[in-house]
Amino acid sequence: MALLIKNGEIVTGDQRYVSDIFCENETISRIDKNIPAAPGAEVIDASGKYVFPGFIDPHVHIHLPFMGTFAKDTHASASRAALVGGTTTFIEMACPGRAEKPLEAFELWLGKAQGQSACDFTFHMGVSRYDDEAEQDFKEIVKRGVSSFKMFLAYKGALGVTDEELFKGLRLAKKLGVITTVHCENADLILELQKQFLAEGKTGPEYHYLSRPPLVEAEGVHHLMTFSEMLGAHVYIVHLSCEESLAEAMRGSARGVSVWVETLIQYLLCDKTDAERADFEGAKFVMSPPLREKRNQPVLWNGLKKGFIATLATDHAPFDFATQKQMGRGDFTKIPNGIPSLEDRINLYFTHGVKRGRIDLHQFVNTASTHAAKIFGLFPRKGAIQPGSDADLVVYDPKYRGRISARTQQMNLDYNPFEGMKIEGRPDVVTVRGKVAVRDGKFVGDQARGQFLKREPNHF
Ligand code: URP
Ligand code: ZN
Ligand code: ZN
Repeated sequence: MALLIKNGEIVTGDQRYVSDIFCENETISRIDKNIPAAPGAEVIDASGKYVFPGFIDPHVHIHLPFMGTFAKDTHASASRAALVGGTTTFIEMACPGRAEKPLEAFELWLGKAQGQSACDFTFHMGVSRYDDEAEQDFKEIVKRGVSSFKMFLAYKGALGVTDEELFKGLRLAKKLGVITTVHCENADLILELQKQFLAEGKTGPEYHYLSRPPLVEAEGVHHLMTFSEMLGAHVYIVHLSCEESLAEAMRGSARGVSVWVETLIQYLLCDKTDAERADFEGAKFVMSPPLREKRNQPVLWNGLKKGFIATLATDHAPFDFATQKQMGRGDFTKIPNGIPSLEDRINLYFTHGVKRGRIDLHQFVNTASTHAAKIFGLFPRKGAIQPGSDADLVVYDPKYRGRISARTQQMNLDYNPFEGMKIEGRPDVVTVRGKVAVRDGKFVGDQARGQFLKREPNHF
């Protein structure tokens, strides 16, 4: 069915104007003033509201076997949460263990999302080991439409890679024309600090931060910059959390490394004191790299404003408090790492970014949608409002006022890290390729509408 969105204020990465948008056959076909309603077309009045391109979350975990358990969301619950929050596309980390065959793992992840996700999706393919057999699989996976890899420098013995594997993985990525997303923390430093704290009887969640201080992350970034510089590989630093790491990334960029930086909504709004909350409540805020000292927040906001930081993601990784986070009572190294935020990223970013004057509307759209589309080969199909683009649109009500609560969330979890925080704006209507998926802030979509987005390599 055709869709006509009338009188909205269209805001993209570089334009802002009032117009109508006509969508048919899943794409935007016309943008103009006073477009008449075609017979049978659904008409949405967007007067007084913004119309944004669908937001893209370039870093989520949904199917995630990790630290002896599994993240709680399914593709059904996660995609509903994404859409209600204005995210119409996510890029999931397919993270197989070392023993798994990469191609089988890719098919497993794809199978879990297909027919279950209400929004479009794609994957960063995890490179958790590197040998001849794995190399053949990675080549095949790229042919099947995955043009980004994921490597972990942390999590030694589990998802983490050795330097030899990092070298070979980046070399293959360069050869195939794909970009590699990397979790940067020095695994050996973490391991030694963890052992030291546990031996001293320091077992609470607050020691998670102390076992992974800023220098541990900055060293990881520096390490990646060196490898990337030597190999000429395109790299993307996931979940950068602090000033020290940003300085290393910018030093790399200044000497010509092809590097992009991502930060997370959690780092902008939460800090290390959250992981120090009493009665083990801090476990809800344990993630890696850890929440940092507040002094880092203006640095990250400034990075987003000035473009040193390209994207604002979530690293959505939900583990419940009732059972999963409890696995680490008495040993902080066993608390499953991760904080959920897929549902709340956009409303919190709009409230604390645009409404508080830290970023403008274009910086908001670029960092939460358009840059991810460009970096990961989805633009202009996604991240744009122009004829020919997918009709993924967010009619956003800047007058809405509400509060975040786990009681009303779509995420399959018993807590929300942003519980009680005010939001000043909300997606009113969200469309997935021309079909309404959210109306009045409620999911009304087709649970199986999401498609796997094939991406070409060599799009830089
Ligand atoms: O703590 C985190 N970030 N958990 C998810 C896995 C990862 O490192 O991205
Ligand atoms: Zn990570
Ligand atoms: Zn992650």
